[in-house]
Amino acid sequence: MDYETPQFYRVMQYAARADRDVVDMVSGNPDWDPPEAVRSGLRAYADGDADQFQYAPSRGLHGLREHIAARHGVDADRIVVTNGAGEANHLAMTGGLDHFDGGEILLADPVYPYYAGRANFIDAETTFVPVADDGRLDPDAVRAAASDDTAVIVVNSPNNPTGAVYDADAMAEFVAVAEENDALLVSDEVYDQFDYSGRFASALEIDSPNVVATNAFSKSMAITGFRVGYAVFPPTEGPTGKLVERATTRHMLTNVSGSRPAQYAVERAMETTEASYYEAARDRLRTRIDTFCEALDAAGAAYTRPDGGFYVLARFPDFPGTFDNAYRLVDDAGVAGMPGAAFGEARADWLRFSLTTPRVDTAAERLVEYFG
Ligand SMILES: Cc1ncc(COP(=O)(O)O)c(C=O)c1O
Repeated sequence: MDYETPQFYRVMQYAARADRDVVDMVSGNPDWDPPEAVRSGLRAYADGDADQFQYAPSRGLHGLREHIAARHGVDADRIVVTNGAGEANHLAMTGGLDHFDGGEILLADPVYPYYAGRANFIDAETTFVPVADDGRLDPDAVRAAASDDTAVIVVNSPNNPTGAVYDADAMAEFVAVAEENDALLVSDEVYDQFDYSGRFASALEIDSPNVVATNAFSKSMAITGFRVGYAVFPPTEGPTGKLVERATTRHMLTNVSGSRPAQYAVERAMETTEASYYEAARDRLRTRIDTFCEALDAAGAAYTRPDGGFYVLARFPDFPGTFDNAYRLVDDAGVAGMPGAAFGEARADWLRFSLTTPRVDTAAERLVEYFG
C-alpha cells in the first residue's frame, strides 16, 4: 500500500468528476458550525494591535496552553500547541523514535493512513497488529507483537476507521506494554469528544513517563482548517522529561510558531463553550449512526456500530472495498466512501463511510436500493 500519497483525494476527485449527484462520505470534515466564540474571537482579533499580528510563542499562546492543561489536569509545561493533531502525532512519533532504542513503530491494522505514511517517510520499520473481529485492538496482540526493537506504539481512540473506543483497562494495558518494552505509547485522542459509549479513557489518566497524548480542536470544534492541535508530553522531571524540549525545538525549527489568530479564537472558545455544544454534535451523529446502520442492515452488510468517532466500516456481500468498487459505488449508487484497502489489509474488503454530511439519509436510501 502506498501510504505516502494521500488516497482520500483519489476518491474525492473521482466523485467530483462524476456525471451524477454524489453524496460525499469520504472526507472527515465536520459539516456543522464551530462554537460561536470561534467566530466572535476571530472578529475581535481582526481589531487587535499590531503586536497581535506577530509570531505567537512557539509552544502556543500561554492562555490556550493553560486551558488545555486544566482540561487534562496536567502542568502547562508539558504541552506544545501544534498545527493540528497531525503535527502533534509527528512530534510524538519522531520524539519516541529518537529517545527509545529500536527502530520499529507498532500500528493497528486497519490504520489511519497518515501514521503509516509518516512512519515510511521517516524510515521507521512498521509492524501492523490486526484488530479483533469487533474492530478493537487487543492489548494482548500488541504485547505479542512488541519487542526490544519497538520504539513507538500508536493507538487511536475513538478510532478512525473502526469506531472502537478503549476503556481505562485497555488503555492501562497499552501503557503497560509500552513500559515493558521501553517504548513510547502515542495515544491519538482527536475524537475524544465523540464518545457514545461513555467508556472513553484518556491515556493521560495513567501516570507514566512512557505516554504522549495528542489531540486537536479540528473535529471537536469543527475547525479542521484552523490547524490547532496539541501534544501532552510526559512530566519534565521524569526520565522522559526531555521529550517536550526536543518536540518544541522540532516544532520551532519547522514552523517558528503556529497560527496566532486561530489559537486566539480557540482560546476564547475554550473559555465559553458549554458542554451542550459537544452534546449537540454527538446527538446529531447518533441519529446519523442509527439511520446509516439501519440501511446497512437492509442492504445485508456486515458492520460494527461505532462506539465513537464519526466513521462506519461496512462490508457488502460480494463487493470488496477496492478502489474500483469505490468508484463503481460513486457511478452506480451516487455514494462516495473510502476503500478499506486504503487502511491496510485487515479491512481491505470493507468500505469506510464518514457521517459528516447532512445527506446521510439520501446515502442510506441509495445504498439500500443498490445492494438491497
Ligand atoms: C485519527 C486521526 N488523527 C489525526 C487526524 C488529523 O487531525 P488534524 O486535522 O487535527 O491534523 C485525523 C484526521 O482525520 C484523524 O482521523
